[in-house]
Amino acid sequence: MGYRVVVAGATGNVGREMLNILAERQFPVDEIAALASRKSLGTEVSFGDKTIKTQDLDTFDFTGWDMALFAIGSDATKVYAPKAAAAGCVVIDNSSLYRYDPDIPLIVPEVNPHTIHGYAKKNIIANPNCSTAQMVVALKPLHDRATIKRVVVSTYQSVSGAGKEGMDELWEQTKAVYNPTSDVPPKKFQKEIAFNVIPHIDVFMEDGSTKEEWKMVAETKKIVDPSIKVTATCVRVPVFVGHSEAVNIEFEEFLDEDEARDILREAPGIMVIDKREPGGYVTPKECVGDFATFISRIRQDSTVENGLNLWCVSDNLRKGAALNAVQIAELLGREVLKKG
Ligand SMILES: NC(=O)c1ccc[n+]([C@@H]2O[C@H](COP(=O)([O-])OP(=O)(O)OC[C@H]3O[C@@H](n4cnc5c(N)ncnc54)[C@H](OP(=O)(O)O)[C@@H]3O)[C@@H](O)[C@H]2O)c1
Repeated sequence: MGYRVVVAGATGNVGREMLNILAERQFPVDEIAALASRKSLGTEVSFGDKTIKTQDLDTFDFTGWDMALFAIGSDATKVYAPKAAAAGCVVIDNSSLYRYDPDIPLIVPEVNPHTIHGYAKKNIIANPNCSTAQMVVALKPLHDRATIKRVVVSTYQSVSGAGKEGMDELWEQTKAVYNPTSDVPPKKFQKEIAFNVIPHIDVFMEDGSTKEEWKMVAETKKIVDPSIKVTATCVRVPVFVGHSEAVNIEFEEFLDEDEARDILREAPGIMVIDKREPGGYVTPKECVGDFATFISRIRQDSTVENGLNLWCVSDNLRKGAALNAVQIAELLGREVLKKG
């Protein structure tokens, strides 16, 4: 016996990946429902070698469904997640709406799987921000060995992190550079993203940081350890899929770069590609469609007492969203629901 699974946001970037990954990982599905807004009613989406038609989330009855993987943005989540949870269907949500609620676990299965049982308070589990998810997979095993004091991270985030519209904007603006008869003004992003980089993701906060930067700070504390200090600069770059991060870490204890490399090689969810030669590192283009978080350029930072630098790359639609959500579903199945 398997699970009755709902994917809400099935026509979107993350929703489509969730359907792909459920099929790829042979999640024990008895029945699947693909939901989106009314305007997408009947749109066909792929689930393994099958094609399924999307239904209207607004009229869907969640009664009798085991779990619902949501990727529909915070506004719609606020309306529909409580409905699903109240019907007894466990919600695994990709939006930022519930991430900071102390009664809702925020889970990266490689890092804090033990928090899964906290789901029962509200029948909801939160999935972290894409940039946080890949970073904490790398931080956790290093923290266990040498205790992280402070992290300084700069991100290079792809346009798919801003949904389908973000990808379309990069595509249209890039074409317009070669065909100057058409003008494609910025809409999803604040400035032109084609052949440019933008140091602004999500809204500005009072202290001058952006909400995306604040999310990395708050989520790392909730998932790994509240005592870790994090400072982030989040930047949108003209890459379709795959987020990259330059991470500087300061530890309590000395951690040699070779030992760090060995620890990361053994750590779950990580692939180390770190040759000190041209091309001996991973770029976002190479991580697309992969499950792993790739770590390269591991090296000592001799400007602080116990410092290390590394380069971290992952498919933001996978580890940053859909894969992590499916891994949570697997964890929920294994530890709690125990079907399949
Ligand atoms: N992309 C990433 O890297 C990433 C990473 C982590 C988390 N997330 C989060 O995941 C969520 C989805 O992101 P995305 O990139 O997949 O966005 P997207 O490509 O724009 O897709 C949005 C999806 O949500 C559906 N939707 C929106 N409003 C709805 C409503 N009122 N009722 C029913 N369905 C509705 C859309 O359906 P229609 O097609 O019918 O409009 C579509 O299926 C967001 O909360 C985002 O913050 C994304």
